Amino acid sequence: MNGYAKSASEWWRQQRHGRWERVRLRVRSRLRSYDRALQSEQGPVATEDGPYPSGWYFARFGEHLRRGQVVPVTFMSQSYALFRTREGHVGMVDSQCCHLGADLSRCGSVSGERLVCGYHAWEFDRTGHCTKIPGMDRIPPRARQRSVPVLERGGNIWFWYGDGPPLPFVDVDFTDDRRRYVTLPGEVSICHGGLLPLAEHVTDVSHWPFIHGASEPMQYVSLRNEGRHFEYRVQPSSPVRRMQGFFRPYILVTLTGPASSVVRSQHGPEPNRDRPFLAAVLGSSPVRDGATITAWRIAVRKLGPDWLLWPVNRLLAVLLWWVVRRNFHADLEILRWTRPPAKPLWVKADGPSVREFQHFYRRQIVGRPQNPQPRHDAVEEH
Ligand code: FES
Ligand SMILES: [Fe+2]
Repeated sequence: MNGYAKSASEWWRQQRHGRWERVRLRVRSRLRSYDRALQSEQGPVATEDGPYPSGWYFARFGEHLRRGQVVPVTFMSQSYALFRTREGHVGMVDSQCCHLGADLSRCGSVSGERLVCGYHAWEFDRTGHCTKIPGMDRIPPRARQRSVPVLERGGNIWFWYGDGPPLPFVDVDFTDDRRRYVTLPGEVSICHGGLLPLAEHVTDVSHWPFIHGASEPMQYVSLRNEGRHFEYRVQPSSPVRRMQGFFRPYILVTLTGPASSVVRSQHGPEPNRDRPFLAAVLGSSPVRDGATITAWRIAVRKLGPDWLLWPVNRLLAVLLWWVVRRNFHADLEILRWTRPPAKPLWVKADGPSVREFQHFYRRQIVGRPQNPQPRHDAVEEH
C-alpha cells in the first residue's frame, strides 16, 4: 500500500487506474500504419555521405546467393551484379554492361563460370574480362567490366572498398567448421543515418546497461589499435565471480575494417580466437544517401556431435539467435535514425572507446574514387 491510499480498496483503485492510464497512453502514442510507412519512405537524413573508409563491406548472406543466381548490390549509389557460378565461386562486377549498357544484375544469367548479358549474350568471367562475343573471333580490349574483390567468410559475402590491396579477413574459419559449429544468418536492416553511427556503436560500451540490460557497467580494454588493426575486450567492471564466469562474460571484438567485425564470447581475459562458444559476425554497407544496410549472423559451438545431440545443438543455437536478435533490435530502434552530430559532446562517462574507434575509422578513409577500385588480380576464392 502506498502512502497516499487510505484503505486497501483505494490502493487497488489507484493501481487499476494507473494501469489503464499506461495502456491508454501506449495506445495513443502508437504509430498508425501510414505514419510508419511515411517514416520508412522518408528521404535521406544522413549527414555523413562519405568519404568512406577502406575495408570489407557486407554484400549478402552466403545462403542468399544460390549457384547460378545473379543479384543487384548497390554501394555508394553505384550498382553491381553479384553472382555465384555453377562451381560455387562468387564474383562482383559493375552492373552496366560495357556493350550497350544493359543491367547485368537484372538481365544477366550464369552459364558455367561466366556471367552472360541478357541483351546480346556477351560473356564475362569473375574478373570482368569478356571471354565471348557471339559472332566475333576477336574480343576488343575495352570489352570488360570493372570487378571488385569479393570473398566469402564467416558465412557472409563481402567486397573490398579502398585503394590499397585487400586485407585478409579476420580469422573466422571456425564458423565454417560445420562439425563443431551451427551458423545461422540473422537479419539485414536498413538504417537512415549513415555508416559511422552503425560502425562506432560496436565499440560503445557505455550504452549496455540502458539498452542491453547489463546489470553493471562494462569496461573497455583496448588490445590493438594501430594502422588497419583494431581489437578490444569488453568485460564486467568488477571482478567476475565463479558462477558468472560460466556464462563467458568477456567479449573479444576484432575489426576487419570499420564496417565489419567479429564478436566472440570469452571465458576469461585470455583471447580464444579459434573456438569461442558464441560468435557474432557483423557487417554494414552504405547503399546510398540515407540508406545503410547492417546485418548480423551467429555461430554457436555445438555441445556434442550431431548424431547424439542434434536437437540440443540446434535448440541452443536458435535460443541464442533470439537473444542476439532481441539485442540487435533494441539497438536498431535507436541506430536506424541516429545521425552523427557535427561536434559530439563527450563526457567522462563515455569512456575512450568510441573516440578511439573514430580515430581508427578516419585512419582508413581513402579519397573517394567513383567506384570501388577494380582489382582484376585480387578476386579470392572461397
Ligand atoms: S548490352 Fe550487354 S551484351 Fe549488349
Ligand atoms: Fe548495442
